[in-house]
Amino acid sequence: MGKIIILGSEKGGVAKTTSTFNLAYALAKEGKKVLAVDFDSQANLSTCFGIEDTAAVPVTIGHLMMHRIEDEELPDASEYIQSRNGVDFIPSSIMLSVVEAKLRLEMGAERMLSGILEPLKERYDYILVDTCPSLGSLTINALSEADGVIITVNPQLLAMMGLQDFLKTVGKIRSRINPALQVEGILLTMCDARTNL
Ligand SMILES: Nc1ncnc2c1ncn2[C@@H]1O[C@H](COP(=O)(O)OP(=O)(O)O)[C@@H](O)[C@H]1O
Ligand SMILES: [Mg+2]
Repeated sequence: MGKIIILGSEKGGVAKTTSTFNLAYALAKEGKKVLAVDFDSQANLSTCFGIEDTAAVPVTIGHLMMHRIEDEELPDASEYIQSRNGVDFIPSSIMLSVVEAKLRLEMGAERMLSGILEPLKERYDYILVDTCPSLGSLTINALSEADGVIITVNPQLLAMMGLQDFLKTVGKIRSRINPALQVEGILLTMCDARTNL
């Protein structure tokens, strides 16, 4: 049974996407079966996987979320899981921002990702989810579904302050929605060893 790991932080530009991409290939190199999920409407991870025009992708994670919100059946996995050099991924597009707006009015809004990733757990060793730089409904959906979270932090003062808020949210998710959620670790990114930060 696969493990769902979220890469999250409240800040943008702290290497969530880069870390998701590198971790996916590092795990694949170890012989693990990996699915990377782009869960950010900026679709940077999809671009890393070589998709030039994300708006033209027929089925993205945004489309799947929309099916869940409308209580419709999901398309076959072959229609939305793509593969590059031994790593599978589900792309995103700007459409995910429409989903985020829609989630605000939905019942059970924090569990919409559940019906999408849960059935895929048996196919993979790891499902890595790249999230957007906010603690909005999309990130809460991802945390509600995860076994673990890796928090990326750039060791600078303002980024460190965001870490406190993020840990507080993880605590709330654990007590209210997903008791299995573990903090896998805090990953310091883009460290400058010359400073004592
Ligand atoms: N170790 C690193 N050293 C230098 N630049 C990096 C490193 N990791 C990521 N970057 C760059 O920092 C920027 C932000 O990274 P990104 O992964 O997009 O962050 P996020 O997903 O958190 O917004 C990108 O331009 C990326 O190429
Ligand atoms: Mg990103």
